[in-house]
Amino acid sequence: MKALILFSSREGQTREIAAYIANQLKERQECDVLNIQHSSSVDWSKYDRVLIGASIHYGRFHPAVTKFVARNLAQMKERASGFFSVNLTARKPEKRTPQTNAYTRKFLLQSPWEPDCCAVFAGALRYPRYGFFDRFMIRLIMQMTGGETDTRKEVEYTDWDQVGRFAHEFAGLPGKMK
Ligand SMILES: Cc1cc2nc3c(=O)[nH]c(=O)nc-3n(C[C@H](O)[C@H](O)[C@H](O)COP(=O)(O)O)c2cc1C
Repeated sequence: MKALILFSSREGQTREIAAYIANQLKERQECDVLNIQHSSSVDWSKYDRVLIGASIHYGRFHPAVTKFVARNLAQMKERASGFFSVNLTARKPEKRTPQTNAYTRKFLLQSPWEPDCCAVFAGALRYPRYGFFDRFMIRLIMQMTGGETDTRKEVEYTDWDQVGRFAHEFAGLPGKMK
């Protein structure tokens, strides 16, 4: 049986985190890493655990995430499961837990799915890759929250050791399937 890792990513950081976790898991278990937006039907017979990772844009996860959970809830409940969110609020360590990160807390409160492990990772700020409007908006948010405002910069805040520890936790979840 394999592990299924699904990601929702716009600029690529969550996809990179998903790939990193898959690489960490590889010694224990084979994994498939798929974009959640292209995963409307999953062959669940291949998987005994599932991990979903999603980034935040303008305060929201991509609607494909909640849609996937709603459609696949029964299969997800039968398997060991994990969730991680990626955002820039989490660049501040005190906002990097499921309880202290407002987006993640709200998602978990509203979701019918209760993942067995959960983490919040700081994402990346990549001004040169954004279009005019997004660059303007993100700079404004950074100004208001004491972050980087130099639009020539790309800053990766992700703590890869934290990602590695979470991969280990996910891999070690006891199996649920009979
Ligand atoms: C247009 C845009 C809007 C964003 N909105 C938020 C936000 O509301 N809150 C936040 O904490 N981070 C926000 N971010 C930061 C992203 O969550 C962060 O860059 C993350 O690394 C993106 O992951 P992805 O590349 O996998 O999509 C935003 C980024 C962009 C480009």
